[in-house]
Amino acid sequence: MSTPLQAATSQVVEEFSLSTETLRAIAAEFVVEAQRGLRLPGQSMPMLPSYVTSVPTGEEKGVFLAVDLGGTNLRVCSVHLDGNGKFKIVASKSPLTKKLMTGTAEGLFSFIAEQVRDFLAKHIDERFAEEQPHAGSTGHYFKLGFTFSFPVVQTGINSGTLLRWTKGFDIPDAIGPDVCELLQEQLDKLKLPVHVAALVNDTVGTLLTRAYTSAGNGSTIAGIILGTGTNCAYVEDRAAVTKLGDPTPADRDIMIINIEWGSFNNNNTVLTRTPIDDAVDAETPNKGVHIFEKRVSGMFLGEIIRLLLLDLSAKGLIFCQPSHELLTPWTLDTSFLSAVESDTSVDLSTIESTVSSSLGLPTTLAERESIQQLVKIIGKRSAYLAAAIIVGLLTQTKALDKYPTVDIGMDGSVFQLYPGYASMIRDGLRILLGKDASRVTIGLAEDGSGVGAALCALVA
Ligand code: GLC
Repeated sequence: MSTPLQAATSQVVEEFSLSTETLRAIAAEFVVEAQRGLRLPGQSMPMLPSYVTSVPTGEEKGVFLAVDLGGTNLRVCSVHLDGNGKFKIVASKSPLTKKLMTGTAEGLFSFIAEQVRDFLAKHIDERFAEEQPHAGSTGHYFKLGFTFSFPVVQTGINSGTLLRWTKGFDIPDAIGPDVCELLQEQLDKLKLPVHVAALVNDTVGTLLTRAYTSAGNGSTIAGIILGTGTNCAYVEDRAAVTKLGDPTPADRDIMIINIEWGSFNNNNTVLTRTPIDDAVDAETPNKGVHIFEKRVSGMFLGEIIRLLLLDLSAKGLIFCQPSHELLTPWTLDTSFLSAVESDTSVDLSTIESTVSSSLGLPTTLAERESIQQLVKIIGKRSAYLAAAIIVGLLTQTKALDKYPTVDIGMDGSVFQLYPGYASMIRDGLRILLGKDASRVTIGLAEDGSGVGAALCALVA
């Protein structure tokens, strides 16, 4: 006889499990939505042209500045591309406060400019200024690549307007103006010798970095972020991007597309949906969109488990008294799930201390077993959804027909830190691709945002 808690846990596990048919339906629907987005502007999964029209060879050289905005921290870095797929990076990081993330455009962009000023004061010597190829009469000495990891409709390599905010950012007056101009204005106010030369999504940066560091072996087709948010950029034939009109002789053969796959299947026709998913969505500023991201990425996994536990507690099945922490939205982050997932001790003592320190609650062994089952299914669902959408991408690109092995660059905290995540993605790929799964290589493209921004600034 199972206890009421065990029965309720099994029910959640069942609701969160994905059948092979669902995974196949997701892969197939991805192709439909991708093709629609390439054909028509304004689709919910927008397939945004990045205006990056070549992939690095590994031989690129130069020194650039990069600003990386889009996760939990703002990073400013200088990137030395040394050729031969090698680089050096010096970075400084500052946390982004809720006030910056939900205030005004001026507040955010002046903060970024101040961080650039401080970085220049601390790290930049005259040698760097001399190495900059574009020092000169314009007064702009440093070329800066701006990694701005949100959905941006670009009109060129260093111009674009925000479609909408994601990942908890909400600054209404930044939607409309050109985001590069917003940054340039604030840099100019501080009289900094910096020119915003390229606007890059982190996924585009990840793709370029992976291609650069694998010395241009030619088969890197995509860059994926599995971190605070999730998204992918990939190499598409320019001719397939019909919403840009027919290619002219001046156009290159390829166009890197920022898919914004966080917004895959916003209408839930193939994604399964539980009441907890709806509850998470209801708590976000971007309700009803980026639905796929809210099932998969790091920002949301902690909130999914918190709401599941709260629900069980309200039903009297776990924690006789909910704590203040359990009642507070967004208290738990993905490190909670990572700790719970990895506990292999007989008495689940890591879970005991993790729940106690994050939620201030004591647990029985039976409760800890349930919490671990819930966490494991949330993590597995995330990785299997990622695998299914990757298979959709492989279908769209016909990459397995074109190359003996297909290479994908990945970055992000979930991919890097969640225990067993990479192998769960591989399991998902095997379910859908059989032995062809072994022809897909997935490699970490660390520092993709910084190095990719530098590579873009170089071609800009
Ligand atoms: C969100 C953003 C997207 C970004 C991703 C990963 O989905 O909309 O632009 O690439 O997060 O950071």
